[in-house]
Amino acid sequence: MADGDNLILVTGASGRTGRAVIAALKGLDVNVRAFIRREEVGKELIEIGASNIVVGDLFDDQALESAILNCDQVIHICPPMNSNEATLAMKITDLCLKHNIQRLVLYSVLHPLLSEVRHHSLKLRAEEYLVNSGQNYTILQPGRYMQHHQLIWREIIETGKHCMPFSVNSKFNIVDLADLAEAVSNVLVGEGHDFATYQLAGPEALSQVDMARIISEVLGRPVFAEAKPADEYIRIAKKNGMPSERIEQLCAMNEHYDKHGLRGNSNILEWLIKRPATNFHTYISSNFNKNI
Ligand SMILES: NC(=O)c1ccc[n+]([C@@H]2O[C@H](COP(=O)([O-])OP(=O)(O)OC[C@H]3O[C@@H](n4cnc5c(N)ncnc54)[C@H](OP(=O)(O)O)[C@@H]3O)[C@@H](O)[C@H]2O)c1
Repeated sequence: MADGDNLILVTGASGRTGRAVIAALKGLDVNVRAFIRREEVGKELIEIGASNIVVGDLFDDQALESAILNCDQVIHICPPMNSNEATLAMKITDLCLKHNIQRLVLYSVLHPLLSEVRHHSLKLRAEEYLVNSGQNYTILQPGRYMQHHQLIWREIIETGKHCMPFSVNSKFNIVDLADLAEAVSNVLVGEGHDFATYQLAGPEALSQVDMARIISEVLGRPVFAEAKPADEYIRIAKKNGMPSERIEQLCAMNEHYDKHGLRGNSNILEWLIKRPATNFHTYISSNFNKNI
């Protein structure tokens, strides 16, 4: 593929976010180069909308550099909870500068300044490095996804309980990943987003009690909120083979959520997608089967 093809490198391409972003870019006047580490997902990503696949490890400097080569833009979606997240983002920033990449879009997180949550503070370091680098950028700071409900939907249907591992009263401006992906694609194809940082949160501040009430309205039967105890959460995570370091980081995040939730504002998201952001009632009624 030659220069001038409006080529965008997407890292983390085979993940939940990467796939949504690639799908949102489909049909727009761009070519997507998907960076993956498992060759076997390449075909699926082509079907979703990628036109070019590179296979490698993000922590292999050579693979990373050859993936960035000849791109017009890079959107970096880091693997979640990675202890080397800041170093990787710095490396990508340097490579973008070296290869005159028009813009680096950094997929960060809402409130990276939260010092007690490691992946937030690593994203803050990545942002600081990028802002000081001279590289043209757009930093996106998405809130917690509504899509976390995919993981507990079966339990909700089977038990009538909405159980996440933090206080039932903490509030979150959860956001639909489909809205985020649309916002990301508008930023990537649009003008005027140079050197910008955007907070992207959902339209309502909802606690588990609120979410359970809304799900109950959609299902037409009672659903109750209950905080999942940390020890039960850890036991299930271990049983599912989650590495202990990741469990530790998730527990730190849950402790923070327990005390503070994760609030934000949807104004910037709605400006980017030019319509109201999806509310939780709509998300649940359009994405889930009542019976499983
Ligand atoms: N979930 C949320 O609510 C939320 C909110 C705000 C921000 N974020 C941020 O969004 C980002 C993406 O999250 P996600 O849920 O989309 O993650 P995900 O579904 O786990 O996807 C991670 C991707 O990274 C790839 N990957 C992992 N290690 C790699 C390596 N060494 N080399 C190459 N590729 C590698 C994975 O490949 P495989 O498919 O081969 O495993 C996968 O494609 C994270 O940085 C997270 O902090 C998430």
